[in-house]
Amino acid sequence: MPRNGVHPHKEFEGIYLIEGEGEERLGTRSLAPGENVYGEEIVKVGDEEYRIWDPFRSKLAAAILKGLHKIPIKEKSKVLYLGAASGTTVSHVSDIVGREGRVYCVEFAQRSFRDLVNNVSKNRINTVPIFEDARFPSRYRTLVSEVDSVYCDIAQPDQARILAENLDTFLDPGNEFLMAIKARSIDVTKDPNAIFRQEADILKKRGYAIEEMVRLHPFEKDHCMVRGGK
Ligand SMILES: C[S@@+](CC[C@H](N)C(=O)[O-])C[C@H]1O[C@@H](n2cnc3c(N)ncnc32)[C@H](O)[C@@H]1O
Repeated sequence: MPRNGVHPHKEFEGIYLIEGEGEERLGTRSLAPGENVYGEEIVKVGDEEYRIWDPFRSKLAAAILKGLHKIPIKEKSKVLYLGAASGTTVSHVSDIVGREGRVYCVEFAQRSFRDLVNNVSKNRINTVPIFEDARFPSRYRTLVSEVDSVYCDIAQPDQARILAENLDTFLDPGNEFLMAIKARSIDVTKDPNAIFRQEADILKKRGYAIEEMVRLHPFEKDHCMVRGGK
């Protein structure tokens, strides 16, 4: 008899709601049982291991809890992930897309990249770590085959432009992207809402549609998740 109840999320494939300690928390089924990536809680149910997905550590989890309507990441998806850092969110994306999916993880900070390789990619064959600068998609063009979606979390002042360069290179019509915006990385003096609109406008001018924007408060201050498409 399982100690904790685990239910598939009603809207999102590969994401689970896990009961425990009087509440329901987000989780993903581990593709690498026995491995802990960032100190996350592990819940065992029968032979399976589920990893609690902390919305205070991962903006994608925060966006889901804040009501994002759609996630262009599901089983078998091929995802280009810009700003992989040490792999906290990458590890959950890897769980979601599963063995037949791929997560191309672009990161340019040496230390984070080393942690990404040692703590995540070593145990997850569906991740492809790419030590590169996201400003130059042509440098990793040959390492990335077709992708279904692009996830961007690079916290750079010109991140909308950088994302657009990658979308121009990798995204086919009909496919979608997510971008996490941290207002303070762009301009500390401006109203965060004005910054979110300004970033969305940059993508619109590059020919991309904005489908929804979700504020991540209280999990992240002055952050927003944008979903859009080609
Ligand atoms: C906010 S952190 C990402 C957190 C991560 N997405 C997560 O949820 O686990 C931003 C990361 O983007 C990386 N980054 C920033 N600019 C970049 C660029 N031009 N190319 C590649 N990585 C970049 C930084 O080194 C940093 O690790």
